[in-house]
Amino acid sequence: MLGSLVLVWIFICLLFLFIKIQRPKNFPPGPRPVPIFGNVFQLNISNPLKDFERIAERYGNVYSLYFGGRPAVILTGFKAVKEALVTKAADFSGRPQNVLVSHITEGKGIAFVDYGPYWKEQRRFALMSLRNFGLGKQSMEDRILGEIQHLVVCMDKSVGGFMNPDTLFHEAASNIIYLVLFGIRYEYGDETLKQYVTSFVESTKIANGFWGMIYDTFPALRGLPLPFRKAITHFDIVKNINANMVSKHKPSRVPGEPKNFVDCYLDELEKQKENDGSSFTEGQLVRTIMDLHAAGTDTTSNTLRTAFLYLITHPDIQEKCQREIDEALKGKAHASFEDRHDMPYTQAVIHESLRIAKTVPLSVPHCTTRDTELMGYSIPKDTLVFPNLASVLSEEGQWKFPHEFNPVNFLNDQGQFEKPEAFLPFSAGPRVCLGEGLARMELFLILVTLLRRFQFFWPEDAGEPDFTPVYGITLTPKPYRMGIRRRQAAKDM
Ligand code: HEM
Repeated sequence: MLGSLVLVWIFICLLFLFIKIQRPKNFPPGPRPVPIFGNVFQLNISNPLKDFERIAERYGNVYSLYFGGRPAVILTGFKAVKEALVTKAADFSGRPQNVLVSHITEGKGIAFVDYGPYWKEQRRFALMSLRNFGLGKQSMEDRILGEIQHLVVCMDKSVGGFMNPDTLFHEAASNIIYLVLFGIRYEYGDETLKQYVTSFVESTKIANGFWGMIYDTFPALRGLPLPFRKAITHFDIVKNINANMVSKHKPSRVPGEPKNFVDCYLDELEKQKENDGSSFTEGQLVRTIMDLHAAGTDTTSNTLRTAFLYLITHPDIQEKCQREIDEALKGKAHASFEDRHDMPYTQAVIHESLRIAKTVPLSVPHCTTRDTELMGYSIPKDTLVFPNLASVLSEEGQWKFPHEFNPVNFLNDQGQFEKPEAFLPFSAGPRVCLGEGLARMELFLILVTLLRRFQFFWPEDAGEPDFTPVYGITLTPKPYRMGIRRRQAAKDM
């Protein structure tokens, strides 16, 4: 027994010593991978961002790593990311297929669907519907302002005390998406929503963690009852909740008079009934709902949590915003998105929050759609590509203050709002975030309304703030509490 173990051990050592993984000809360079595991031992899997920076310093802004046997290209800095996602958009806008995420989403929805006519048709339709063409009389802005009223009522209860904003921001962001999709919202703390969030979080945690990597790297293990199967079970729970919501919603709909995204989609489904090649199906609708809800909830709420973390630890910046907001909204009952043009400083603070939050640090993984070239390197079709957006958002030479929270990053010498080219929290090119417009409107209206009404502060007994976020497909600030007082301006309103 011992003898065979020693033999296996010797075999593994020889494998590591003599079998070299050969990078394809003229492929981007990178650290030497070991057989079976690739470069995973050279990365801190719980947060590889620092390792990605270190490797870029040695190998340049376009380098490669192996995840198991699968090569991936990492793009660092504005020039490399822009050249791939914008200049060579068609070559770099695919999504990896035959991986856990693409299997659990069954190739439907938008975010994980490969580049092609099916994805284009669904994305275009979703964009048009979200841009108000199908939201009936109640605009996107009205829906956001409506949800903010609930947020304010809830925060009012904490005046004079402290609160942890995590769940509240998450539920508000979730409700805004549901108001756009179905015209409904859940009460904060609702049980269905809790079950939804728990199952969704479990499913993504598995798909983006160690077991997701095992599934993607070793196809031979996929049939085994390993924890990656739980990702599928949890995903099915989320899918069933949304499918039930669609069924319940149908009787309230008046065909031809859409009031929300689901109405629009069902109208389109009827129009396309006779078209055999149509990509519109009820299954596709459910997946799109899931994509929009998933992509629009954590991202927006984590950005809000980051913004408030910096505002409560930088009271001078908070006060400057409040003075500007009071002046711009004098005599108005509430803010509107148009008011942003009168608030250059507040706009700069919101953009700086998006920059420092680096909410989706490595974007959503891309994939090459054909053999291509980038900055002198050859990259074959179907290569995994990670645009390191975090590196762009703190790249030296692109920002006046790349490593600190400073709204001056978005102000010119005259104090006017100005957006540098390297501002890519929503990525770029054909896959650029589909909800960018909605997210910007939400962030502006929520921040302005709350700052106008309340003063937020860091609790004296809370010790030093910890700004290091928790790594995941989205970066999440560590939980914190904030103190709340009602502002005099709000008492006078
Ligand atoms: C994709 C960021 C909010 C829907 C993305 C991507 C990023 C991103 C970096 C990947 C783009 C790429 O693949 O290159 C953000 C940030 C947000 C936010 C920072 C908030 C602060 C939203 C909202 C929605 C949404 C509110 C929903 C309405 C989507 C969808 C995709 C996407 C559907 C996939 C697009 C595609 O594959 O064609 N987002 N997002 N996002 N986002 Fe957002």
